[in-house]
Amino acid sequence: MESHYILLIFTLIGITIGQVTQPGRCPNIPTIQNFNLYQFLGPWFGVEQFPEFKQIDLVCPVTVFNLNINYTIRIEQRDYNTLDEQYQQQDGTATVLNPLDPGKWQVRDSQQQYPYPYWVIDTDYRRFAVTWTCIDLFNGSHLQYVFVLSRSRRGLSQYIRYLIHRYLQAFGVDTSNLQSNDQTTCFTAAQNTTGSGATFQRGRPFQR
Ligand SMILES: *[C@@H]1O[C@H](CO)[C@@H](O)[C@H](O)[C@H]1NC(C)=O
Ligand SMILES: *[C@@H]1O[C@H](CO)[C@@H](O)[C@H](O)[C@H]1NC(C)=O
Ligand SMILES: *[C@@H]1O[C@H](CO)[C@@H](O)[C@H](O)[C@H]1NC(C)=O
Repeated sequence: MESHYILLIFTLIGITIGQVTQPGRCPNIPTIQNFNLYQFLGPWFGVEQFPEFKQIDLVCPVTVFNLNINYTIRIEQRDYNTLDEQYQQQDGTATVLNPLDPGKWQVRDSQQQYPYPYWVIDTDYRRFAVTWTCIDLFNGSHLQYVFVLSRSRRGLSQYIRYLIHRYLQAFGVDTSNLQSNDQTTCFTAAQNTTGSGATFQRGRPFQR
């Protein structure tokens, strides 16, 4: 069974594929209250995440959330691959497990045989979002992935980042693991994404 988790470590969709293994079981971080999925949809730029697995050089992460016809959520993860010098995209499908807790998702993606949790733990919909994946391992440790997202490629203010770190720390998350992305050089390349890439240039595809 261990090998399944090893596989997951390297292929989790959150790209800038990172993992932090810590002793003990996953902390119990609540999802955001009264989560409004519709307001959350659309593009988000990756600002900070747990450390990268430097197998492939991926920068400029953008995550786009859209609603499928069957009310699952399509997650498009786009990153610029500095080796290929082009954007690549990985898609996943998220399901809300309990309608009363709509920020708690289970994600399947093509790379990964097993679904994994993906929780929206905080967002104000128009500036920042924090998503989190935690997986209990059989050896009594757990794996964590944290993603701090911004609606704007310009990123987040120091103050918002500080508040996010404080919030995570309150649940025992070691925020010193967070690494930040420089998105300032990404703009030109992002303009050149083709196909569904157009959706995030125009802003949120779902407006209520
Ligand atoms: C819902 O639709 C998506 C996109 O068409 C598909 O990938 C997924 O398997 C569907 N899920 C269910 C439970 O039907
Ligand atoms: C538990 O397993 C993970 C993944 O194989 C590994 O990284 C971690 O070091 C292990 N922890 C302990 C305490 O053995
Ligand atoms: C856009 O990208 C394609 C393929 O990645 C490349 O062939 C093309 O030259 C690029 N266009 C511009 C304007 O950079």
